[in-house]
Amino acid sequence: MTGKVILVTGSNQGIGFAIVQALSQRAPEHTYILAVRSLDFGHQAIRKLRELGITSRLEGILMDVTDDAQIAGAAARVGEKFGKLDLLVNNAATAGVPKPDNSDIRQVYDNVLSVNVTSVAAVTYAFLPLLKKSEDPRVINISSARGSITRLTAKVMPKTISIPYCVSKAALNMLTMEIAEAEPEMLFYVVSPGHCKTAFNGFRGPRDPVEGAEVAVELALSERGMYKSALWENEGNGMTEVPW
Ligand SMILES: NC(=O)c1ccc[n+]([C@@H]2O[C@H](COP(=O)([O-])OP(=O)(O)OC[C@H]3O[C@@H](n4cnc5c(N)ncnc54)[C@H](OP(=O)(O)O)[C@@H]3O)[C@@H](O)[C@H]2O)c1
Repeated sequence: MTGKVILVTGSNQGIGFAIVQALSQRAPEHTYILAVRSLDFGHQAIRKLRELGITSRLEGILMDVTDDAQIAGAAARVGEKFGKLDLLVNNAATAGVPKPDNSDIRQVYDNVLSVNVTSVAAVTYAFLPLLKKSEDPRVINISSARGSITRLTAKVMPKTISIPYCVSKAALNMLTMEIAEAEPEMLFYVVSPGHCKTAFNGFRGPRDPVEGAEVAVELALSERGMYKSALWENEGNGMTEVPW
């Protein structure tokens, strides 16, 4: 088949949706798979993309990233339909805050780390055989500057609401770089989209999700070798590496 096959997790809303929107506007020849945990929401998102004038091939696929059977089913379906995957964007994530008395601390940490780290590992390894069938395989993991210990200790970030979330993004950065070491023929990136207006933060972020998507879009469409495996951001002043 001509064109690339691109799958974005958690793409029914927010930054994941914006990544599909911006990428398909820029590269309509590719196929975009919206991996979602509700097919109804996936179909609504596809309708919205059509209303925005997107002409690309769009597919919705059921994949709760914490559900191993759904991950295996989604990988099998992509394999049968397309025979390869060119770009995997691990975008789905969650946050959580333990109660003031910490009575639920284990449950909150386990859930945030399960969605934001363990599930990224599970999804990435499940799709690795299909990525290896691509001529230019890439994985982009949506992280956050909140995962930068350098920025935290330099006190340049506002105080966080969710420590488990920051821990998960630091772990995601390490996970990404470890898999990059193990799979040197593939490109692995982590990105910080910046503080965007999404359901995640009650729509309080100052950036439009499409602006936040830009860093991932640039890494997805750039010439191979232009950017090294690292944590990248684009706050409107070009591509910049975020210190770990
Ligand atoms: N917004 C920001 O300011 C900001 C800043 C830095 C980094 N980020 C990162 O950007 C990414 C997207 O966040 P967002 O701001 O766009 O938030 P969002 O609008 O709340 O979107 C999160 C997406 O993840 C999906 N999701 C959550 N748990 C899932 C699961 N178990 N299986 C499958 N999908 C699941 C959600 O699905 P449902 O709709 O079904 O819940 C939703 O589509 C995240 O990785 C986040 O950490 C966001």
